[in-house]
Amino acid sequence: MQIIFNIILALSFAVISTVTSCPPSDREALLAFKAALHEPHLKLFDSWTGTDCCRNWYGISCDLQSHKVADINLRGESQDPMFGRAHRTGYMTGFISPEICKLTRLSSVTISDWKGITGEIPKCITTLPFLRILDLVGNKISGEIPADIGKLQRLTVLNIADNQISGRIPASLTSLSSLMHLDLRNNKIWGPIPRNFGRLRMLSRALLSENQISGPIPGSISQIYRLADLDLSMNKLSGPIPSSLGKMAVLTTLNLDCNKISGTVPATLLTSSIENLNLSRNALEGKIPDVFGSKSYFTVIDLAYNNLSGPIPKTLTTAAYIGHLDLSYNHLCGRIPAGAPFDHLEASSLTHNDCLCGKPLASC
Ligand SMILES: *[C@@H]1O[C@H](CO)[C@@H](O)[C@H](O)[C@H]1NC(C)=O
Ligand SMILES: *[C@@H]1O[C@H](CO)[C@@H](O)[C@H](O)[C@H]1NC(C)=O
Repeated sequence: MQIIFNIILALSFAVISTVTSCPPSDREALLAFKAALHEPHLKLFDSWTGTDCCRNWYGISCDLQSHKVADINLRGESQDPMFGRAHRTGYMTGFISPEICKLTRLSSVTISDWKGITGEIPKCITTLPFLRILDLVGNKISGEIPADIGKLQRLTVLNIADNQISGRIPASLTSLSSLMHLDLRNNKIWGPIPRNFGRLRMLSRALLSENQISGPIPGSISQIYRLADLDLSMNKLSGPIPSSLGKMAVLTTLNLDCNKISGTVPATLLTSSIENLNLSRNALEGKIPDVFGSKSYFTVIDLAYNNLSGPIPKTLTTAAYIGHLDLSYNHLCGRIPAGAPFDHLEASSLTHNDCLCGKPLASC
């Protein structure tokens, strides 16, 4: 998916950048943007000379109709031959200058994997009416997500993963009515997920793991019809798992591991479209619902390190497919059912329970 997306992006650059010339005000803004950054190894900014910033300026392309700068595409990890010749990945320091906001026709801003870029996301970024892609992954950007991010009504991709962003998820984020891909992983974001998160009707991936997010999992998430991938792992979420998550049409991956989630495992999750389910390292209790069947197809089902009790459900052996199963470190007890998937499981997937017995553990 990502590869196809990159190819389409690359093709559109090739088409656009040949035809246009650059307004002096856009050139000025780009030079001010460059002045706040320092890239000593690849020297890619050496190409930013001459009056026509739409021609042969590394990472810049312009809009066909308006002849204004439409895309900034600066990736620190790239297949570009320049990186091969330098025998290294990118490293850049400095900050993203607010001068970037003078490029009013910007449609995509990708400034990714430079590792050393600090400072904040310019607040004025929310005034760019055509912005579709904001990808700042893999830097050291701090500060908060702009409070009025919701003004970016065309935004489809917001990726600020692997930075040092703090603060809450702004309430206005749920007004991003075009958003398809949200990636906030590995930051320092705290506070709750907005209750009305389910307003993000176009969302297909919501990746919020490795933050300090607390409070409940909003039930409204289950209204996001296209959501395929929900990763809330390694946070401080508490309360129960909404059983409606198991009724979602295309949800394939649900990662809630390493939180403080309590209550029982909803039966709906085990007969749903979910194929990768990680609920490990929470405070789930009660029995594992005995509802598996021919609709249950799991590449991964990890329930380890909870407080689950009772027997291993017998219907597990009727599931269409169970790849990796981990039930270790719970309070399960009783005879392990015979047949798939238990005939191919390691003992370590079942150890540290109260009194399980039978293959692959000791006989009863
Ligand atoms: C599930 O999550 C835990 C904790 O984050 C992790 O250690 C484990 O590897 C994950 N399980 C699978 C099968 O990926
Ligand atoms: C686990 O469940 C038992 C009762 O089944 C309860 O006494 C205990 O406090 C629970 N432990 C945790 C860590 O929630």
